[in-house]
Amino acid sequence: MSAEWVTRIRSNPLFRERAFVDGDWIDADGGETQPIDNPASRETIGQVPRLGAAETRRAVEAADRAMKAWRRQTAEARGVILYRWYELMLEHEDTLAAIMTLEQGKPLAEAAGEIRYAASFLKWFAEEARRAYGRTIPPANPDQHIVVIRQPIGVCAAITPWNFPSSMITRKAGAALAAGCSMVVKPASATPYSALALAELASRAGVPAGVFSVVTGSAREIAGEMTANPLVRKVSFTGSTEVGSELMRQAATHVQKISLELGGNAPFVVFDDADLDAAVDGAIAAKFRNTGQTCVCVNRFYVQDSVHDAFVGKLKERIENLRLGDGFDPSSEIAPLINQEAVDKVLSHVADATAGGAEVVAGGELDARGGNYVLPTLLTGVRQSMQVMQEETFGPVVAVSTFATEEEAIDLANDTPFGLAAYFYSENVRRVWRVAEAIEAGMIGINAGLISNAAAPFGGVKSSGLGREGAMEGLDEYLETKYLLMG
Ligand code: SIN
Repeated sequence: MSAEWVTRIRSNPLFRERAFVDGDWIDADGGETQPIDNPASRETIGQVPRLGAAETRRAVEAADRAMKAWRRQTAEARGVILYRWYELMLEHEDTLAAIMTLEQGKPLAEAAGEIRYAASFLKWFAEEARRAYGRTIPPANPDQHIVVIRQPIGVCAAITPWNFPSSMITRKAGAALAAGCSMVVKPASATPYSALALAELASRAGVPAGVFSVVTGSAREIAGEMTANPLVRKVSFTGSTEVGSELMRQAATHVQKISLELGGNAPFVVFDDADLDAAVDGAIAAKFRNTGQTCVCVNRFYVQDSVHDAFVGKLKERIENLRLGDGFDPSSEIAPLINQEAVDKVLSHVADATAGGAEVVAGGELDARGGNYVLPTLLTGVRQSMQVMQEETFGPVVAVSTFATEEEAIDLANDTPFGLAAYFYSENVRRVWRVAEAIEAGMIGINAGLISNAAAPFGGVKSSGLGREGAMEGLDEYLETKYLLMG
């Protein structure tokens, strides 16, 4: 199925196979390229330049030059350009979605949903740009005035993941550009085409050369230059906790400001007073979005003893009816995983759970098509010590355990070094407040399985990261506070 799409997409002007630096489409200095594969077929779609430190340095220097004029534009003028970028994304939604499905695998309708989600950050920050308010403070000395102003932090660097190839870029770049910063983006090696299409649209929208560049290639070399270059004043990363803490170490060299949106291990708690049908809907949404490859996807289900069998029965029926297929097949609801490594991890978590006594109620293995196609899986009788409860599985596996009391549920939910998202279902308003306050996570879905929204502050606590994206907090991340004492 995707073979016809490859031909169709490759001939579209938004499909670019060169990096975008200082307003120009460039190759690697030595002409090196790296192949990009389609997760559905494992066939190579095309190549992108394999840039390294030297080309990244040029992108950073261009960003530094370009920022001088960009920051002087009014917030409103920057907002107009961001809004145009937003409109262009929506005008080209179908093409952008197809590019994403081709390189990332997610079902086409879901990819189109991500394009709208990605565009919503540009709209949000186009409007938010004008709200970078400062303040005045009553002085202690009557002959003085204290004024606080907010200024763009400087050149920013972003390193973005493959699971959300567009929205994780616009969530960072929208905020940075609105604040008056410039940004150099290193997209995930697996999904550069969505980023390059965004660069083309940014340029058409009027984002000046150098203000937004996209460098494809060696993650180690590009990130190394981003953190070694003192012109870069802020690094924003979405990805694994392991890489995030390494970047944090590197960013310490020049005391760069850093935002990290890292791994999660989200609990989903179903209390005996929950609306079970709503909880099942929420579970499907929160677990199977992007085939389970989402940092905020549920990783651990805890269901109160008395409703366990009813909840699992309803969930089993829904999981067995989920349609797994090529993302370009309109009937597909879940899709192949990104690569073999992802498949191995998911299957090893299932194997570890079954070896420890968990029961496979649905799926639990590769689909007959093999490749990256893993069947949606339901495991019961899972214990807290199993890998599937301790580590982020990042795949279509529902692992269910039980609890007896509210206190036990909270302890189990918090029994992890991570704290990105958490979900719980209860119809008892007192319990809702108690549990929401007690769970250690940056974001909590209460009787809701989908929490992502440009207007809300996205981010985690504990080993899940630092800083927030989206909302007014997202703009703050790209602003410095300067205090003026006027005598
Ligand atoms: C992520 O998985 O990193 C982001 C998901 C989202 O924005 O909802």
